Amino acid sequence: MKVLVTGSAGFIGAQVVAAFEEAGHQVRGLDLRTGADVRDPAALDRLLPGIDLVVHQAAKVGLGVDVADLPDYVSVNAYGTAVLLAAMARHGPRRLVLASSMVVYGEGAYDCAGHGRVRPGPRVPADLARGAFEPPCPVCGAPLRRAAVGEDAPPDPRNAYATSKLAQEHLSANWARETGGSVLALRYHNVYGPGMPRDTPYAGVAAIFRSELEAGRPPRVFEDGRQMRDFVHVRDVARANLLAALAPPRPGTLTPYNIASGSPRTVGEMAAALAAERGGPPPVVTGEHRLGDVRHIVAAPDRARAELGFHPEIGFAAGMKEFAWS
Ligand SMILES: NC(=O)c1ccc[n+]([C@@H]2O[C@H](COP(=O)([O-])OP(=O)(O)OC[C@H]3O[C@@H](n4cnc5c(N)ncnc54)[C@H](O)[C@@H]3O)[C@@H](O)[C@H]2O)c1
Ligand SMILES: [Zn+2]
Repeated sequence: MKVLVTGSAGFIGAQVVAAFEEAGHQVRGLDLRTGADVRDPAALDRLLPGIDLVVHQAAKVGLGVDVADLPDYVSVNAYGTAVLLAAMARHGPRRLVLASSMVVYGEGAYDCAGHGRVRPGPRVPADLARGAFEPPCPVCGAPLRRAAVGEDAPPDPRNAYATSKLAQEHLSANWARETGGSVLALRYHNVYGPGMPRDTPYAGVAAIFRSELEAGRPPRVFEDGRQMRDFVHVRDVARANLLAALAPPRPGTLTPYNIASGSPRTVGEMAAALAAERGGPPPVVTGEHRLGDVRHIVAAPDRARAELGFHPEIGFAAGMKEFAWS
């Protein structure tokens, strides 16, 4: 297969390129860092002819909580995807694997004893300030039980970045319907591993913890350290992209998949694992909090397992051991 990978010089994109090349596919890359902009139709007109499938990783990634950044997120992520899709319509590839994100869900899934599955709203400053980190039932205020979020959960993007990632999915679905194309949208959870950037809403905190340990300081864990995430290794994510590319196309549709390890951990556990591996001081739980953070976001990985045959191969202990020193 001839594959165009956008964002090919990025943390995940570079591993995606490696996975496709290792499997014997021909890869063309496109990345701002190597001089090509996904918003440039002329660049796409040069790169797309002869391509069978596009793997779209290029994006402006980040916290996206500053309203001043809205235009940039929309420009790279939404507009960039629109330019790419229009060029794909001109040149023919009818298959797209899209790097989407768990951020489209907002807060994770929760169950109330009285009200069943509920979606709590953003947490309020007064609760966070008194250390009440768990979001209450939005109907009755009772404590909730955390649940795994499935692909059919309604989207609830809570910042500019999340909104622009959801826009990528919607635009791709429009393209699929109009052209008969097939889109598999991979909603990555917290991707970590060698080369990860620090300033992301994902596992960037792992890189921050590691820098603290390198400096001989204890990792500082926010809230009570019991907030849950699903940490998935970057080489497993790259393999998920390859499996998505090999899956039978579904003309006219977009199908979303959670790409996660299926073994959620707390942020405190992650800090402790890195500290233990490096023989550094144990983490300090600070009680600090940030308004934009969600409490728990944990995925149901069943659909990717059943339909793509995706089984993560790098477990938490082995992955963190490697990451601690990489
Ligand atoms: N890291 C995670 O945990 C995570 C989780 C969910 C989703 N994602 C998604 O995965 C993808 C890759 O993210 P990453 O973590 O590797 O980030 P990254 O910043 O390392 O990679 C993104 C790449 O896109 C390139 N890029 C940015 N703007 C561009 C443009 N206009 N034209 C061409 N290239 C451009 C950047 O130069 C960079 O190399 C993104 O779509 C991101 O939204 C990442
Ligand atoms: Zn309730």
